[in-house]
Amino acid sequence: MTDQSALHGDPALSKILVRHDEISGRVQELGQEIANDYAGRAPLLIGVLKGGAIFTTDLARAIDLPVELDFMAVSSYGSSTRTSGVVRILKDLDEGIEGRDVILVEDIVDSGLTLRYLRKTLLARTPGTLEICSLLVREEQQQGELDDLVKYVGFKIPPVWVVGYGLDVGQRYRNLPDIWEYDTTVQS
Ligand code: IMP
Ligand code: MG
Repeated sequence: MTDQSALHGDPALSKILVRHDEISGRVQELGQEIANDYAGRAPLLIGVLKGGAIFTTDLARAIDLPVELDFMAVSSYGSSTRTSGVVRILKDLDEGIEGRDVILVEDIVDSGLTLRYLRKTLLARTPGTLEICSLLVREEQQQGELDDLVKYVGFKIPPVWVVGYGLDVGQRYRNLPDIWEYDTTVQS
């Protein structure tokens, strides 16, 4: 079931952390939960590019409601595997969100810096409601605080760098169907 073909032999890909079939199952569950919570409404999913793009489009198809999609691109400067502390909007939304039921869809919450910045920016535009859905949350990060911030969580993962299913290192590996642990000590 697992896909090892695309980048087979890449020494930096140490092991699969979440298999594609587990991801698909969880995405279906999240979609149903959101469909129940937003019954009778038409939520706007805002995907955070580029990491959240694949999750956002799969999640949209798992929600049995008339959802709409928009995307934002942000960058915490550079292509390294460390958060720099500076968030910049590279692409803003196409439409206003005033009064809308907005669900912000992220790939992973690490320090929460990106998320907090986006949340503040979106709240200033007075949506009707704003909730956050993240595919991954790192287990050891300020738990209590993040639990309050992120309503829908796909998986909690250990403190390792991960790639695949949208997540990258230097723009690579986003197309892997599974989520892999990436060994940052290996030069590739
Ligand atoms: P934060 O601002 O520290 O929460 O960082 C969140 C952003 O950093 C995510 O949206 C990702 O783009 C990126 N990021 C954090 N951890 C990983 C990882 O393990 N793999 C790939 N990208 C990551
Ligand atoms: Mg991101």
